[in-house]
Amino acid sequence: MFSSRIDWRVEPNRLMAILKQKKQNHIPILDLTDTNPTTAGLVYDSDAIQQWVSQPDILLYHPDAKGSMAARESIAEYYRDHGQPVNPDQVCLTASTSEAYAFVLKLLCDPGDEILFPQPSYPLFDFLAAWESVSLKPYPLVYSSRSGWQIDMDRLLDAVSHRCRAIVVVSPNNPTGSFLKPADLAHIGNLCRRFDLALIVDEVFLDYPSKKHNVTVNTTAGHAESLTFTLSGLSKICGLPQLKLGWIHVSGPDPLVQAAIIRLELIADTYLSVSTPVQVAAPHLLMNRQKIQDQIQIRIEANEKFLQNTLVNHQRFLPYRREGGWYQVLSIPDRGSDEELACHLLAQDDLLVHPGYFYDLDENFACLVLSLITPPHTFQTGICRLMKKW
Ligand SMILES: Cc1ncc(COP(=O)(O)O)c(C=O)c1O
Repeated sequence: MFSSRIDWRVEPNRLMAILKQKKQNHIPILDLTDTNPTTAGLVYDSDAIQQWVSQPDILLYHPDAKGSMAARESIAEYYRDHGQPVNPDQVCLTASTSEAYAFVLKLLCDPGDEILFPQPSYPLFDFLAAWESVSLKPYPLVYSSRSGWQIDMDRLLDAVSHRCRAIVVVSPNNPTGSFLKPADLAHIGNLCRRFDLALIVDEVFLDYPSKKHNVTVNTTAGHAESLTFTLSGLSKICGLPQLKLGWIHVSGPDPLVQAAIIRLELIADTYLSVSTPVQVAAPHLLMNRQKIQDQIQIRIEANEKFLQNTLVNHQRFLPYRREGGWYQVLSIPDRGSDEELACHLLAQDDLLVHPGYFYDLDENFACLVLSLITPPHTFQTGICRLMKKW
């Protein structure tokens, strides 16, 4: 009856089964995994946001496959603020970054084709690829305490096959927080040209670099050496996932860009999924992004500092180097099982943390993943509870 694409395990994993039971019993949980900015105790300019999404223009429907010019110009302005002039005609709006992936995979891949994606990375990829009948081939990020997370370029090259259509990079990556460095981009651009691959770069966390590491943070929106799709959206840039606006910026050699945009327009025109209210509000939301970004950065830095100060006395937990983003990867003592530890902490201590395996961090890493936008009181109480175990 049903497509084999959706032949997935539907029962919850062990950790989620414990969580479900706790919730059924109304047991309060200290949640160190939540990355929903709208429930994280941040202060939004709520009157202004409500005004922007309810302007008189929202009552008029002017369908445009790529999205309204005003919204696309505000996105071009966002890239200009990042030092990268872009043409709004090369921007296509989507209802989310996840939908942007779906559109780009439809554009590039036939069923059974492959895309290369980073490991570790965030779990949604498996689904996004499966729904497009595309196979995922992982390439590893490797870690050293001196250089942090690096793309293993040899393994990336090994992973290229004749079915491969694109390389996905997440910069900064979720959960490792590692940025794509200029030298890596040059290398991957060469690979793309050599094997006729597109480059897909997810920059949803671009605006959240860590001040501790002097990493060069560039958008790939102007990358011209290979066909490049730069994806982002309001969910992280403005902390507004519920408004549902993402986008794709297309760059590269001109004939390829034009061919890609014509096809993308056809895909987008089929769904016209971006609501008028968010398109009308987008210029205001983007122009005013700094206030919420500042709060998020302050929250991340405060939680990171608390963690580091606490770890001075608990050296069996070690934080992995984080260059940006909203997550902290933390190695666990004695290279134990991350799943066992996460289940134990939830069952015994009502403390929710993500095991690294959720992000395809294998047993070599043995780690937990924490959300750094957790409200400070919850974060501090949770970290103290975690450290008391050792
Ligand atoms: C790296 C990354 N890309 C994309 C998304 C999805 O973003 P959106 O809410 O715009 O679909 C997420 C969600 O957390 C993410 O972590």
